[in-house]
Amino acid sequence: MTKSVSIISSAAVIVALVASCTGAEVYKDPSAPVGKRVEDLLSRMTREEKIWQVTQWTYGKNMNENNVEKETKAVSPYVGSILFRSTNPAYYNMVQRKAVEESRLGIPMICGFDAIHGYRTIFPIPLAQACSWDTDLVEKSCSVTAAESRRSGVFWTFSPMVDVARDSRWGRVAEGYGEDPYLSGVMGAAAVRGYQGESLDSDNSIAACLKHFAGYAYSQGGRDYQYTEISSQSLWETVLPPFEAGVKAGAATVMSSFNDISGTPASASPYLLTEVLRDKWNFDGFVVSDWGSVEQLQSQGVAATPAEACEKAIEAGLDMDMVDDVYLDNLDSLITSGAVSEKVLDEAVRRILMVKFRLGLFEKPYIEELPEEERWLLPEYRTLARNLAAETFVLLENKDEVLPLGKKPGKIALLGPLADNAYDLMGSWNGQGDSSDVVTILDGLVSEYGRNSVKYVRGCPFEGNDRSGFSAAKAAVRSCDVAVLCMGERMKWSGENASRASLALPQIQEDFIREIASCGKPVVVLISSGRPVELSRIAERADALMAIWQPGTEGGNAVADVLSGKVNPSGKLAITFPYSSEQQPSFYNQRRSARPFMGHYQDIPKTPAYEFGYGLSYTDFEYGEIRVNAEGENFVAEVDVTNIGPADGSETVLWFISDHYASISRPVKELKHFEKQFIPAGESRTFRFEIEPGQHLSYPDSNGDMVLEKGTFSVIAGGHSADFELKLPYRIDRTQKQTKTI
Ligand code: BGC
Repeated sequence: MTKSVSIISSAAVIVALVASCTGAEVYKDPSAPVGKRVEDLLSRMTREEKIWQVTQWTYGKNMNENNVEKETKAVSPYVGSILFRSTNPAYYNMVQRKAVEESRLGIPMICGFDAIHGYRTIFPIPLAQACSWDTDLVEKSCSVTAAESRRSGVFWTFSPMVDVARDSRWGRVAEGYGEDPYLSGVMGAAAVRGYQGESLDSDNSIAACLKHFAGYAYSQGGRDYQYTEISSQSLWETVLPPFEAGVKAGAATVMSSFNDISGTPASASPYLLTEVLRDKWNFDGFVVSDWGSVEQLQSQGVAATPAEACEKAIEAGLDMDMVDDVYLDNLDSLITSGAVSEKVLDEAVRRILMVKFRLGLFEKPYIEELPEEERWLLPEYRTLARNLAAETFVLLENKDEVLPLGKKPGKIALLGPLADNAYDLMGSWNGQGDSSDVVTILDGLVSEYGRNSVKYVRGCPFEGNDRSGFSAAKAAVRSCDVAVLCMGERMKWSGENASRASLALPQIQEDFIREIASCGKPVVVLISSGRPVELSRIAERADALMAIWQPGTEGGNAVADVLSGKVNPSGKLAITFPYSSEQQPSFYNQRRSARPFMGHYQDIPKTPAYEFGYGLSYTDFEYGEIRVNAEGENFVAEVDVTNIGPADGSETVLWFISDHYASISRPVKELKHFEKQFIPAGESRTFRFEIEPGQHLSYPDSNGDMVLEKGTFSVIAGGHSADFELKLPYRIDRTQKQTKTI
C-alpha cells in the first residue's frame, strides 16, 4: 500500500458507491446515536480505508515556511491520526482539510501530542504534582492544558502516565505520580477529568491517554526499555490499579508499553489489552501503540517479520499503530491470507471512530485561528501554574528556622547553575513550552525583594571540573546575609531514555555546597530535579533544603512565594529519597521480610534519607490519637490535627492500612486515603477516613479478583496507629463485581 497520498482503488470506489446508494448517511447526522453513526460509517469503508484509520503518522516536525507545503502534501487524507507537532492552528486546519475534503468519506484525523505537564503554560512535572496532594489543582492544570492544546489543533494528549515508580534510576519517574499505586490512580483520574472535562466535544476538552500499559516502570535496574519481570500478584497489586482508576474516570485511550513482561511484550499481550482492559474493565476507548512498539516486537524476539509483529499486535487488541507503518504495510495481505480476520480490524476502527465522534470532530473538525495571546499563557493560567508549583515544593530541612526569609532578609547571594536558568526548570516533556516564558528563580527573587537585594553569581556549573567561579561566589556570600543555592539536574537528565546509574549530583555541585557552607552564612539549598537525588551529604551542610522539582513556567515566582513565607510549604514526598543510589529500589510499600530488622546493607544506613510522605512546614502540626469506631458495616477513623506553630498552613493526612496477616502477605502498609486541609495557626481540624472493608481492606489475588479476609488491621496516620478487627461474614457490595470472601 502506498505511503504517500492514498489512491483508493476503483474496485473500492465501486463498493463504496454501492454502500452510499443504499441508504441515508447516518454517520453524518449529529442527532443519530454515536453507536449507529459508527456502524454506518464502518459499513461504508473499504478495507484500505480501514487500514489507514488504524495508522498514525507525524506532521509538523519541520514547519519552516519552505517546508510546510511539502510536509502537508506528504500527509495522506486517509490517515487516521497524526502526531501534530506544530502550534499553528492554520497548519492544523490545512492538514485536517485534506482529511475532511479530500478523502472519500471525509473522516477527520485525530491529532495527538505529548502535552504531559502543560502545552505552552508549563506546570510542574507530574512527579512534583503528586507531591502537592492537591487533586483539585492537578485537575485544573490539566483543564488548562486541554484548552491550550485544542486551540492549537491538538485533540488528544498522551497523558497521564500512571506507571508506578519502582526505581528512581529510571528517568521516567519524572513523568508519573510516584511510588504509590493509590496516589497514582487518584492523580491519574484527576488528570483524566481535567483533560476530558464534562464532555469530550467541548472546545476545552481533549482525549486523555493512560500510559504505558503496563509494567514499563519495572525496567530492570531502571534502564529504560529493558525487559521487566513482574509477578501476577505485583501486576494486580501495584501496576494495574492506577490504570483501572483512569479507565473508571473515563479515559478515552490507552497506550501500550514498550516492555515485555516475562517474555510477552505488552504491545502483543492479549491478556493485558483484551482480557483485562476490554473484558474485565469494559474499556470502550482505543489502544494506541507506543512509538514504534509494533515494529519493535521483532527486536523483542517475538516476531520474525513486520507481518508477524502486525498480526500479534492487532490480534492482541492494539488498535492504532504509532508511526512505524507496520499495520499500513501488512494488514491487507494478512487479511487476504486469512491470518487476521477483518472483524479484528473492524473492531479497532470502530473504537477509533467512536472516540472521534465523541470528540465532536465530525461536526467541528476545524478550529478558530486565534492569535497566540488568546490561546495560551493567559494570566489565570500563569496564576494557576504559580500556585500549583508552590504546593509541590517539599521542605526537607529547616534548621533553626532559617526559612522563611520573610519580608526583609537582608541581602541574598543567589548561586548555582539553576539560579538564572529558564530552560531546565521546565523539565522533560515540556510540550510546546518556551524558555522565554519562564520566570527564573533570579527573576522571582528580584521581583519579590528588588534588584539591590539579590546578588547573583552562578559560581558552579552542572558538572565537570571548572571551579573557577567558586571564589567569586564565596566573596558574594561573605558580603550577603544568606546564600540561596540552586542546584540539581539538567532537564535532560530525566525523562525518556535518561536512566542514570547514580542518583548523586555531580561531585562539583557537592563540593560547591561544602565550600559555600564554610563561609559561615545561613545556606538554603534548592534542589531542582526530575527524580530523587542523593541528599545525605548535602543535608549535612545546608541549613534549609527544599526539593522544588522542575516547577515549570512560573517556577521562579513560586520559589519566591515560598522562600519569602507568603506561601507556607505543604508538599510531601510522593517518592522515597534513598540514602544513596545503592538503596535502589527503595519504596515504602515493600512486602514484609522474614527478618525485618536484619538483612539490610551493612555499609549504609538501612533507612532512606527521606521517606514517602515526608515534608516539613513553617509551622508544626500535632496529631492526636486515632479514634476508630464501627459504623454499620464500615469503620470510621478520625484524627484531630492541631496547628501548634506560628503560621497558618495546610496539612495532608495520609491514611495507611496495615493488614497484619493475610493469605497473601500484604505490604507493611498501604496508602488508602488522603486529605489536605488548611489549618490556621492555633486551630485544630478533624480528618476522617471512612473505611469500607470491600474497598479498603481487601486486596487482589493474582487473577485480579478481590479477596477480603477477617483479622486485625491497623490504621496509621501521622505516626499514630489504631487497631481494629474485621469479623466476617461481611456483606459485600454486589456492585463490586470482583469482590469475594474467603
Ligand atoms: C514515549 C511515549 C510518547 C511517545 C510519543 C514514546 O517514545 O514512550 O511516552 O507518548 O513517544 O511521543
